Amino acid sequence: MANITVTSPLLPNLDEFHQMLQEIWDSKWITNNGSFHQKLEQALCDYLKVPYISLFTNGTLPLLTALQALRISGEVITTPYSFVATTHSLWWNGIRPVFVDIDPTTGGIDPERIEEAITPKTTAIMPVHVYGKPCRTAEIQAIADKYGLRVIYDAAHAFGVEVNGKSILNEGDLSTLSFHATKVYNTIEGGALVMHDAKMKQRIDYLKNFGFAGETEVVAPGINGKMDEIRSAYGLLNLQQVDAAIEARHQVAIRYRKELREVEGISFWDDMPGVRHNYSYFPIFVDAPKYGLTRDELYFKMREQGVLGRRYFYPLISTFSTYRGLPSASRENLPVATRMADTVICLPIYHSLSDSDVQKVINIIKS
Ligand SMILES: Cc1ncc(COP(=O)(O)O)c(C=O)c1O
Repeated sequence: MANITVTSPLLPNLDEFHQMLQEIWDSKWITNNGSFHQKLEQALCDYLKVPYISLFTNGTLPLLTALQALRISGEVITTPYSFVATTHSLWWNGIRPVFVDIDPTTGGIDPERIEEAITPKTTAIMPVHVYGKPCRTAEIQAIADKYGLRVIYDAAHAFGVEVNGKSILNEGDLSTLSFHATKVYNTIEGGALVMHDAKMKQRIDYLKNFGFAGETEVVAPGINGKMDEIRSAYGLLNLQQVDAAIEARHQVAIRYRKELREVEGISFWDDMPGVRHNYSYFPIFVDAPKYGLTRDELYFKMREQGVLGRRYFYPLISTFSTYRGLPSASRENLPVATRMADTVICLPIYHSLSDSDVQKVINIIKS
């Protein structure tokens, strides 16, 4: 029997994709801001309700480029409860990460712990809307305004997430997205930066194209972050089906919540009021004394029966060799993140997950 994986990619209709490939072949324009690239940027602005977007070839280069665009240096406040690319983007820019603990109700940075981490070298805050759950953005912005800091959101998980009808991607100075195959919306590999104004889009478009501003002028040490025409076309097709995919994920989340709510020692989050969630992940937290198994015991029991949940985000980024020597990386500084990383399992959730597979996951957890 096939394993049940944590996710499965949303794939466009192959015939429709083939038609678009034919257009690309006919035009012989395969990258560098071609027509599909332009169409996808516009379609994403409309879908996501954001004013400007710049496409990238993955979700890591937007993080690196955001830091370049805003000329961030010194120290940046972030959290260790994320995918490692968040902190790596700081390291690649020669910036010192300062880890702050997370809020147990969102998994995002705890605004009440930010001020004590600010030093004269702090230039920005890089929070993460982990699992697509909105951070406490108003409090974060108030601190940033008070201390003159920039805010760059790693919104890799937050595609389509809205708070009171407004996109979460409009918060802060810049937000980054990942369109990796594992995400709710994918372009195989891909990503984007969301910005507020045309000048910033221009600057970022230069930076993702080696710093070229026209044919002969280079205005910055830019990088090659460009998205190609083939994946832009694929992305246009996937955008047409992403709402249905999110709704299918929602139904899986409803089922998990209904069936697991009474299981002693298993907890999870409910939807937040006023939020349009994207159901990109379904994390559960295992309280071993109450549940009777540790997180890892449950994780391996699931694996043995072909259910490949994932322990996102364990281990914490702060425990990896690059970062563990930093004073802010200590376990004592990060009790909530440490507890969450030690108890989490993300259950399988995706648009085409069958009812019987959902039931199998539930049965294993209940048995
Ligand atoms: C929170 C977070 N940030 C950044 C990234 C990097 O994105 P990509 O894999 O598209 O480079 C990912 C995921 O892959 C992620 O989960």
